[in-house]
Amino acid sequence: MSPIKVGLLGLGVVGGGTWKVLTRNAEEIARRAGRRIEVSAIAVRDVEKARKLVGDQAQVCRDGFEVVRRPDIDIVVEIIGGDTLARELVMEAIARGKHVVTANKALLAKHGNEIFAAAHQKGVMVAFEAAVAGGIPIIKAIREGLTANRIQWLAGIINGTTNFILSEMRARGLSFNEVLAEAQRLGYAEADPTFDIEGVDAAHKLTLLASLAFGVPVQFDKAHIEGISSLAREDIVHAERLGYRIKLLGFTRRRNDGIELRVHPTLVPAERLLANVEGAMNAVLVSGDMVGPTLYYGQGAGELPTASAVVADLVDVTRLQTADPEHRVPYLAFQPDALDDTPILPI
Ligand code: NDP
Ligand code: HSE
Repeated sequence: MSPIKVGLLGLGVVGGGTWKVLTRNAEEIARRAGRRIEVSAIAVRDVEKARKLVGDQAQVCRDGFEVVRRPDIDIVVEIIGGDTLARELVMEAIARGKHVVTANKALLAKHGNEIFAAAHQKGVMVAFEAAVAGGIPIIKAIREGLTANRIQWLAGIINGTTNFILSEMRARGLSFNEVLAEAQRLGYAEADPTFDIEGVDAAHKLTLLASLAFGVPVQFDKAHIEGISSLAREDIVHAERLGYRIKLLGFTRRRNDGIELRVHPTLVPAERLLANVEGAMNAVLVSGDMVGPTLYYGQGAGELPTASAVVADLVDVTRLQTADPEHRVPYLAFQPDALDDTPILPI
């Protein structure tokens, strides 16, 4: 069978990782997907830098629309980031009948309802495993593995940068700014790291998880958000003396009167599981009424773990693209006409 053709928008931390995963594990991936997955075109700002990684194995250009408009591209992978150009490119890809894979939680938290509706109407897929918790298959777990459950609550560490900062400040006594610089060097942080340290990135992800868990539309503007920028090392040391660790947690639960959706620093008893999640690792606890609590743990940011999730989506889309759209798993786990209007509660 001929290869499925992919256009990459972005070849930075996640895009470069995606190229590496697809190249290094090409045989294994083709056996799993049923076809070879071939990157045919890439859009970046710095063409020369991209050429060093991909040589002449793919078209490299500066204009993302050139990639999206190539008639032979079946799947567009959006890993540019941001919510302006990325939105235009994704909407154009959908309008042209192309499937989309994205790691961009900011985009989906802001424009997810519009994007999912357009994709549903057009019968194409929008896959976003990499948008939440890096390499952990948390989207698939909630959307498919826990689908028999009424989800009661979920809580976790869903931002690698802030967990790395809090862990390193505690363990190595480094300053906030020193560790943030290290997180940026390692490729964990967002292009605008205030999204990480102010809790916005975690809230983007939590918003998507809440929609998956409870079958409500994406409502980022209703989330309660507090970050870690006002924490000092003394707070961390003091918490430790009292037997706690400070963690930036995302928490959502269904109550009788609505849904709680909040991100804030939390004192977690030092012996608890979440207290011992260190570095850029993420961990999410999800409790369903049938299964009880379940735990998902792994690398929450960075090149290859995130690319692992992007490529998992590429394999999924490759496998499913010939399936009748009506029989595909819905984006937000519930059928689009079954989303409900349970309110997000103010805090
Ligand atoms: P990077 O900044 O490393 O990469 C962005 C890429 O997009 C670069 O290749 C850049 O080109 C390209 N780009 C940016 N603007 C344009 C433009 N106008 N036209 C063409 N190309 C452009 O970001 P990341 O890879 O870290 O993140 C990408 C996305 O993945 C974001 O949405 C982020 O939130 C998400 N994500 C990131 C994770 C991580 O650990 N880093 C984990 C999970 C999700 P050039 O190389 O020339 O500068
Ligand atoms: N900046 C994000 C984080 C990347 O640190 O978790 C992964 O989504």
